[in-house]
Amino acid sequence: MSGTSADGIDAVIAEFDGDRFIRVIGSSHTEYAAEQRARLLTLSLNQPAITLRELSLIDIGIADRFASAAQHVLSATGIEAQQIQAIGSHGQTVFHEGPRGLTMQLGDPSRIAAQTGITTVADFRRRDLALGGQGAPLVPAFHHALFAADERRCVLNIGGIANVTLLPDKTPQAVRGFDTGPGNALMDEWVQLHHNVAYDVDGAFGARGAVHLALLDALLTDPYFAAKPPKSTGRDYFRLTWARRLFPALDTLDPRDVQATLCELTAVTVAQAIHSQGTNWARVLVCGGGARNLLLQRRLQALLGPKAVLATTDGYGLGAELIEATAFAWLAMRTLAGGPGNLPAVTGASKPAILGGIYPA
Ligand SMILES: Nc1ncnc2c1ncn2[C@@H]1O[C@H](COP(=O)(O)OP(=O)(O)O)[C@@H](O)[C@H]1O
Ligand SMILES: [Mg+2]
Repeated sequence: MSGTSADGIDAVIAEFDGDRFIRVIGSSHTEYAAEQRARLLTLSLNQPAITLRELSLIDIGIADRFASAAQHVLSATGIEAQQIQAIGSHGQTVFHEGPRGLTMQLGDPSRIAAQTGITTVADFRRRDLALGGQGAPLVPAFHHALFAADERRCVLNIGGIANVTLLPDKTPQAVRGFDTGPGNALMDEWVQLHHNVAYDVDGAFGARGAVHLALLDALLTDPYFAAKPPKSTGRDYFRLTWARRLFPALDTLDPRDVQATLCELTAVTVAQAIHSQGTNWARVLVCGGGARNLLLQRRLQALLGPKAVLATTDGYGLGAELIEATAFAWLAMRTLAGGPGNLPAVTGASKPAILGGIYPA
């Protein structure tokens, strides 16, 4: 899995018994080469005109990185390729526009299968889009399998974009989920601009600023936040040019205050999204890299209120960084078993579908 942050590839070796998740045997994180990452970010943020040759080169460059991510986790665990049933490869999203049925994940699965000698399942989103769905989020079915309990729970994934899964009870019929808007994307872009670091480690930069209320109010006017689910969005939408459009004086403000405000924006829109789906949530389990942003976690806890226990997934069976990658292993397992992976109540698709394509070893 590599998310919209393009911070690198998370790989896990996961074990299942039928539908049931047993455990993660090993994991690894493989960075993109710096120049490759810069190119990917330019591509997904600015949507520049590029040649088809260049696009094809990016496609195989990503595939090579995914294949080495798979090889890294194999050698880290001492497991042989022949012991692996399949790779579930999400690929790298470079474009997503759910309402128009558009999405693009790069990382040629044929190449991954050829290099690893392992059957590869990929292209998970387009079947759902073909059925009128948003193609996202796809993780709620796995969140349900892993975390549904006899209490009202939410699972909050804070990647570049944030998405929430609502588990009001144990039944699969009750599961809801959608993208809430920006997760770390705007914070990452802003801190990269001012400090030349990939992200605001622990939220320390933002913690030195104060929320700028006029900026926050301007950003909250975007209609995406009030729109009813199903809904999904992409990093090509929630970027600094979006913020500058809504608040042209953005770059004249104290950079620390902007960082604090972008963090607050994520916290407020997530809290509003959760409350729009009912109250009395007993527990909110947080995963994705944003789970490590202490300022964001503090603000989320304050906005969700004292009755909701906010915790990372670490203490609930699977570490925050491993959830999404494991979800795509689980989805690959579903596809190979001939079972559906999407939840129509979440994505808006007309029916459940077997997701993706199978590229034999
Ligand atoms: N210690 C940390 N403090 C603050 N933010 C963090 C930390 N670790 C990771 N992150 C954030 O998490 C992001 C990566 O999260 P990830 O779940 O991989 O997102 P994606 O699915 O979009 O790739 C980073 O870009 C960064 O914003
Ligand atoms: Mg990532």
